[in-house]
Amino acid sequence: MSPTTPARLTVLISGSGTNLAALITAQPTLSSTHPTSIVRVISNRKAAYGLTRASDAGIPSAYHNLASYKKRLTPESAAREAYDADLASLVLADSPDLVVCAGFMHILSPAFLRPLEEAGVRIINLHPALRGEFNGAHAIERAHAAFMAGEIQRTGVMIHYVISEVDMGEPILQVAIPLSHPDDDNIAVLEDRIHDVEHEAIVEGTRLAIEALWAAREGQNTAPSS
Ligand code: GAR
Repeated sequence: MSPTTPARLTVLISGSGTNLAALITAQPTLSSTHPTSIVRVISNRKAAYGLTRASDAGIPSAYHNLASYKKRLTPESAAREAYDADLASLVLADSPDLVVCAGFMHILSPAFLRPLEEAGVRIINLHPALRGEFNGAHAIERAHAAFMAGEIQRTGVMIHYVISEVDMGEPILQVAIPLSHPDDDNIAVLEDRIHDVEHEAIVEGTRLAIEALWAAREGQNTAPSS
């Protein structure tokens, strides 16, 4: 793999896409050693503003929605499995090197994870808390409630590899955020502070994941044959 071959990224989103915007802005200079290209944005919500951000940036996008699977298939686990298998096919059709979950509010099952692993495509995720804390949805709200109850004095942001256990994969980077700002009792202020940290972390975490991927591939290419 030549260092000038662009790293192909697929970005999964569900919402406003401010983290996607940070990646789009950083795209030209994301890695100093490897050019990077976002090849597609996929949303599981039709109204996600991130789809507009993708279109404005000229990035192909797709909408892939679980509700239509739930209408056709029961039990729900069968619908989720079929949805995840089709999501894997949709992602792999673009031959990405890395999948970035940037506010993607869907728990990825082995029906998605296995085909990507077999294709050698790694998946990373942004979690708005530190490892092992507030796993799953509404992490910021739950951290704020814990702070207000006097249970925590800091929260954070993590970028990690995705495994089937939610928000428990190997961390790529973690940033602690002390809850010492005079307005941290105001959840809107705290959310803004966390989002600012996220926007730097998603870029840095993606850069580290791309460089780790290329280092691993170069290692494979130069391994002595036995
Ligand atoms: C971000 O706060 C991100 O940390 C959170 O969704 C938001 C997406 O914002 N993700 C999770 O909670 C994942 N468990 P954005 O659409 O503006 O990037």
